[in-house]
Amino acid sequence: MNKVTVSRKAHFNAAHRLYRKDWTDAQNEAIFDKCSNPYFHGHNYDLIVSVTGEIDPETGYVMDMKVLKDLIKAHIEDAFDHKNLNEQVPEFASLIPTAENISIVIWEKLRPHIEKNNDLSITLYETSRNYVEFSGPK
Ligand code: NI
Repeated sequence: MNKVTVSRKAHFNAAHRLYRKDWTDAQNEAIFDKCSNPYFHGHNYDLIVSVTGEIDPETGYVMDMKVLKDLIKAHIEDAFDHKNLNEQVPEFASLIPTAENISIVIWEKLRPHIEKNNDLSITLYETSRNYVEFSGPK
């Protein structure tokens, strides 16, 4: 059976700070550089959510893109957009909000809403040149 990947692009702006409380400021700056700025800083995140599966013979769809759009809005954009990830998003209360960790949190928030037989993959751009991908636990 043919499997097709459908993707939806989305966007959110968010602030973060990358640091470990158990490290000194110097250690944090050495590893996280500008992203450890104690006053936080923002990124314009570009998100691509991809769903792979068989085509429903009745609709011709893998997944209704309107449904996918609404899921991203409700679970990701409304939760992350214009937020301070460290301080306002509970998932990052004790998890460093790197692009890697954000991509996993996005995947975990969306996965329960995607049909079991379909695969879900997250691509998250933190800058136009730096991006991460997560397709579930391996
Ligand atoms: Ni940053």
